Amino acid sequence: MKITVWSYLKEYAETKDEIKNAINEVLESGILLRGPKVKQFETEYSEYHKVNHAVSCDNGTNAIVLALHALGIGAGDEVITVSNTAIPTVSAIVTVGATPVFVDINPRTYLMDTTKLEAAITEKTKCILPVHLYGQCVDMDPVLEIAKKHNLYVLEDVAQAQGSEYHGKKAGSMGIVSTTSFYPTKILGGYGDGGMILTNDNQIDAKLRRICFYGAEKTYYAIEHGYNSRMDEIHASILLTKLPKLDLYVDRRREIAALYNELLADTDLILPAEADYGKHAYYLYVVRHPKRDQILEKLHDHDIWVNISYPWPIHTMTGYQYLGYKLGDLPETESAAKEIFSLPMYPSLTNEEVKYVSDALHQILAELK
Ligand SMILES: Cc1ncc(COP(=O)(O)O)c(C=O)c1O
Repeated sequence: MKITVWSYLKEYAETKDEIKNAINEVLESGILLRGPKVKQFETEYSEYHKVNHAVSCDNGTNAIVLALHALGIGAGDEVITVSNTAIPTVSAIVTVGATPVFVDINPRTYLMDTTKLEAAITEKTKCILPVHLYGQCVDMDPVLEIAKKHNLYVLEDVAQAQGSEYHGKKAGSMGIVSTTSFYPTKILGGYGDGGMILTNDNQIDAKLRRICFYGAEKTYYAIEHGYNSRMDEIHASILLTKLPKLDLYVDRRREIAALYNELLADTDLILPAEADYGKHAYYLYVVRHPKRDQILEKLHDHDIWVNISYPWPIHTMTGYQYLGYKLGDLPETESAAKEIFSLPMYPSLTNEEVKYVSDALHQILAELK
């Protein structure tokens, strides 16, 4: 049995007609951009999060760039985030001219260690950018409290946590802005690229709508510098078929996680820690073991393909050496990167496939003893 780390093909086979009809409807409508499907998707997405405004864009990286730009963050400003994240969290900060500042992670959840946050604040800090990684929210109460005390913005990166919750609130509904990605592997994934920015602030919403559209409020007239960052009608129509199923996707992911938890409880793998403040959406099921690299090799022999998110902390990458971090600066981040890996996780994964992965892991771990 071959098990890939992710696949959309089973899901597509089950929903083919719905998706083809949605695409066809757009193609026959005569409107490909800035039309009713994008508007409807923005409305439904904002309603799902109980947030006033949703502004769609072309991907989750540009969503962060646009959100930072809309907050007026740029050269000379510092944005506090983590080094254990996808490159785009950090590249977006650099794109607007600001400087990323990293805090270490909690060794059990692999999320921002909020007890270390305040020490990272300087006179230049403008924003805290918590990343709700792997499907789980950062502990937001301390983040919001520290931000309030120091008069800082909070931008939530929700690319990996659509549908997850913090004390009953949806991820993405707590900061002044939040951003997400509809990259195909995401919990709410499209069939190509897409992104969204949420805010309750009317002025930020208006600014975002302008800067997504060349800085213009009306065609051919820019009132400020802007970008071109749009979601198209076809992608909005596909995502509209999937949004009503978002909670079902999360439920199925949680079922798979519970099954992995049960089947792997008797191994020496360190299983994911679910914080009691929220609802983990299990974008990834991340386990940890000191013999990670040997386990991965053997999993390949069983035709099981897993992923590492992420093998290299951003502060150790060549592209970000100029930030001046050195090995040892973020010890929890650095040691997790050597030991973590993510088991196959997507709603259409069957219980038999989960069992197959678990059986293989039992065999491999026994061989490595
Ligand atoms: C945490 C995080 N932030 C931002 C992004 C950027 O999203 P996109 O790939 O849509 O640009 C991703 C996805 O790759 C991500 O995982």
